[in-house]
Amino acid sequence: MAKVKNSAESVNGDRFKFEYAPAPEAIDMVKIKKENKLFINGKWVSGKSEKFFETINPANGEKLAELTEADAQDVDRAVKAARKAFNGEWSKISGKERGRYLFRIARIIQERSRELAVLETMDNGKPIKESRDFDVPQLAANFFYFAGWADKLEYLFNGKSVQPLGIAGQIIPWNFPLLMAAWKLAPALAAGNCVVLKPAETTSLTALLLTEIIEESGLPAGVVNVITGAGKTGAALVNHPDVDKIAFTGSTEVGKTIARSTVKSKKILTLELGGKSAHIVYEDAAIEQAVEAVVGGIYFNQGHVCCAGSRLLVEESIAPVFVHKLKHRMASLRVGDPLDKNTDIGAINSRSELDKIKKLVAAARNEGYEYFETAATALPEKGYFINPCFFNNVASSANICRREVFGPVLAIQTFRTPAEAIKKANDTAYGLAAGIWSEKGSKIHKTAAGLKAGVIWANTYNKFDPASPFGGYNESGWGREGGRHGLLSYVEVK
Ligand code: NAI
Ligand code: MG
Repeated sequence: MAKVKNSAESVNGDRFKFEYAPAPEAIDMVKIKKENKLFINGKWVSGKSEKFFETINPANGEKLAELTEADAQDVDRAVKAARKAFNGEWSKISGKERGRYLFRIARIIQERSRELAVLETMDNGKPIKESRDFDVPQLAANFFYFAGWADKLEYLFNGKSVQPLGIAGQIIPWNFPLLMAAWKLAPALAAGNCVVLKPAETTSLTALLLTEIIEESGLPAGVVNVITGAGKTGAALVNHPDVDKIAFTGSTEVGKTIARSTVKSKKILTLELGGKSAHIVYEDAAIEQAVEAVVGGIYFNQGHVCCAGSRLLVEESIAPVFVHKLKHRMASLRVGDPLDKNTDIGAINSRSELDKIKKLVAAARNEGYEYFETAATALPEKGYFINPCFFNNVASSANICRREVFGPVLAIQTFRTPAEAIKKANDTAYGLAAGIWSEKGSKIHKTAAGLKAGVIWANTYNKFDPASPFGGYNESGWGREGGRHGLLSYVEVK
């Protein structure tokens, strides 16, 4: 077995001392265009300024394709196309008909699921087992779910009629490109809106493949328009006067900028921002299950999850045994080629994200917190990789306990009473999610009632269902996506 570099302590048991044969997923079914255009008014068009930017494979640093950088004129073309469709064909068709398009999109997603999963892993760096078993099934599930609502909108509010808002500008991040696209597109379309979608600049390829699927579904021209570009393109969409609603997922910093720039306009705004979510593990918890979920909640997805369980609060009486078991489990984690089916932790999405994580880790190590890092494999020489790690016995005031790292980095603290656990869990600027671990139902309910977080899992973590609303308190955002709540922010109630 390859030796782990920089391991603070070796806990590798004999159990892990064997090698896996490489099991890479084939990539030949994925056709990547060298140059990619914008999708406006049902057609693939060039950008007005003819500027391009690159998207790379973070697992090896190699260029995958060039994408068009949409400028303000392109944004304007896209918004005009959406308005024309909204006032025209799209407004005339029934909810049932809208549902049919969504069902059709969901079915084509299923047919092309392998292509979507492989392309996502190549462009994002996440392990194939995550894109294949989570991202793509969730994408399809959300289209199926909202398809079912399209002809039942009058049941959202008893006896009230609901109307679409108009044009939704939707800006999504790079961590779950397909799921974020689904959370935004599916409810907007089910409710009868038209959309201009801007994927993240480092992960636009699957959004463009999803656009091909939408095209294949026969959706009328202009109902969905997709423009690529970075922050400048996003800002042009946010500031366009004819957009009725902005839905944004990304950093708290950009979320605040968007809130400031839309406050004086008619625009309705929903924001899905960062998190510093905590697991609370009581001494009566099923420890092995909790260890597995803690590992899954922060390491399996490189920590690239807004609701990552990036803080662990463990009852003092079981802390040593819990931490020991955690180290043991971490020693079996495989960091490496995201296309390999055995990989647990893939590549960090970009050089800048990797640098940010490393900087935060180095600062916390300088502050002297107990540090542990290990994995079953050596880090690949090329690409953007980092070993899973944790800091133990961290002070609540420490940066590593307060800032969103967005990497496979866990901060561990202990507590003695439920009240202390709740207080520590709530001691954050965020409030997206939490996990409670106990065999006692009453303890779970009491703890959940005290937590200020939008999503609370009990004896599980990171489980998603299209029918469940998702969103946060405080700096984690405004509004909810998913479920009935996800539709409410795309309608006007009469
Ligand atoms: P970001 O917030 O800059 O990017 C998210 C999306 O917003 C992208 O599509 C981007 O092009 C767009 N955008 C950027 N500036 C904009 C502006 N002024 N107006 C409109 N749209 C704009 O996030 P970034 O730089 O990719 O990541 C930075 C940090 O943000 C991460 O390290 C992480 O901590 C956090 N983050 C949190 C996410 C979450 O799901 N909560 C997702 C992505 C990042
Ligand atoms: Mg940015």
